[in-house]
Amino acid sequence: MRCTALCFAILVAAAPATLRAQAPDDAKLFEARCAKCHSVDKLAPGLAQRAPAAREKYLERFLTRHYAPDAAERKRIVAWLSAQAGAKR
Ligand code: HEC
Repeated sequence: MRCTALCFAILVAAAPATLRAQAPDDAKLFEARCAKCHSVDKLAPGLAQRAPAAREKYLERFLTRHYAPDAAERKRIVAWLSAQAGAKR
């Protein structure tokens, strides 16, 4: 059996502590899940118009139905992307 995205998702769910220590990989996660359709530079200005707390709430809700169904992955993408938007303000 091929071990693809599903295996990865299970690993992510099973090892949150390990992954929290791998923050630089969050950029790679965005690359893998989002970058084929979005660049950070295109998303950041729109997101920067929201205050950080509202931005993360919006992303958390939106991404549940938008290419980040896995809760652990979504959390990492939300935190990383929100930080990018904050940096570009
Ligand atoms: C297959 C292409 C595709 C992928 C993959 C994708 N998106 Fe999108 N995304 C779109 C399209 C098309 C829209 C605009 C239509 C809409 O709002 O649904 C959009 C809209 C958005 C918006 C709202 C627009 C804005 O400026 O606020 C955000 C935020 C976003 N995507 C983030 C992400 C993130 C984060 C990921 C990765 C988890 C992702 N997208 C993956 C195609 C994609």
